[in-house]
This record gives sequence, C-alpha cells and structure tokens, in this order.
Amino acid sequence: MPVDLLISPEALAARVTELGAEIRVDAGADTPVHLVGVLKGAFVFMADLMRAIDGPVSCDFVAMSSYGAGTTSSGTVKIVKDLDHPLAGRDVVIVEDIVDTGLTLEALRSTLQGRGPRSLRTVCLLDKPSRRRVDVALDYVGFSIDDLFVVGYGLDCNQMHRNLPYVGVLKEGD
Ligand code: IMP
Ligand code: MG
Repeated sequence: MPVDLLISPEALAARVTELGAEIRVDAGADTPVHLVGVLKGAFVFMADLMRAIDGPVSCDFVAMSSYGAGTTSSGTVKIVKDLDHPLAGRDVVIVEDIVDTGLTLEALRSTLQGRGPRSLRTVCLLDKPSRRRVDVALDYVGFSIDDLFVVGYGLDCNQMHRNLPYVGVLKEGD
C-alpha cells in the first residue's frame, strides 16, 4: 500500500454523522441549509455530509486554485469555477476538505460574504492548525491533524488517490 492509514472509513463515517447532526441543530429543524462545496477535494466528504443532514438541504460547488501540481502552496488563490446559484438570504455552509494555510478558505469566505447570505459558516473535514498563515473562522472541524500531506476520501496528490475510502499519509517517493 503506497499510503499509511491515518483515519479509517469507520472513523470518518462516525465523525461525518456527528458534523451533519451539529449543522442541522445549529440551523434549526426546518431551515434550508445551502452547502457550498470546494472542488474537487470536498466532493466525497460533501456527498456523505449532505446525507448526514436531515431536512431541507441544497448544494452548489465552487472551484478555487490554490495548489499547483505539487504539495506546496503557491500562496495565490482565485475562483476558477464560480457558483451557479445566488447566496442572498440563504444559510450557507462552505464545505472544505482540508484547511492548511487558511488562504483558500479565507479568500472564499470573504468573497461569499459579499454576496449577502443570511448566515455563512464553514465546515472542514481536516484541519492542520500548525500550518495556518491567516486566521479563518472554522465553525465545524472533523479532525485536527499534524503537519502531514494526506490523501484519500477526496483529497489528492497530483489528482490521484481521491478514491481511497480512508485518509492516509503518502509514503516518500509516491
Ligand atoms: P490552504 O489554502 O493552504 O489552506 O490549502 C487548502 C487546500 O490545499 C485544500 O483545499 C486542499 O485542496 C489543499 N491541501 C492542503 N493540504 C493538503 C493535503 O495534505 N493533502 C491534499 N491536499 C491538501
Ligand atoms: Mg481544496
């Protein structure tokens, strides 16, 4: 196996169920929740998270560029695929796979805040707090992890390994 297990499928499923329940409780029982997934990394997490939120939920996707082909941050962030739907008056939750420097999520948060959502929250599956360069509000965090480059459950290295059902650490040389 080119990847060492860090978070098992069972642990992911249990935590995603908790996050979905928390998001529903905070939103209120009958309030529509609008999920904004950050492509591509968040799509696997979002598919499971969406099904863990009872009641009315809608979704949209945005794509940001942050990393090039490697494993180090370029430091510049831009929207490369915008949302299809307006956010005005909606209770929006941004869904991210992982927050590393925080540059991607903070840039997206401030852009989306300007579109007039009724509320704007953030959920990330994984948080690497030791790597933070900008302070970004995280309302829901699945797991805090050490400064490791992780793949699986949607997360990639050069577009590969997104299909792994667990989160793992890439071994040197892969
Ligand atoms: P940030 O802007 O530095 O917070 O980076 C966030 C983005 O970088 C995430 O949405 C991921 O797409 C990517 N990223 C950061 N760390 C990792 C990692 O360990 N594995 C895979 N992608 C990562
Ligand atoms: Mg991402």
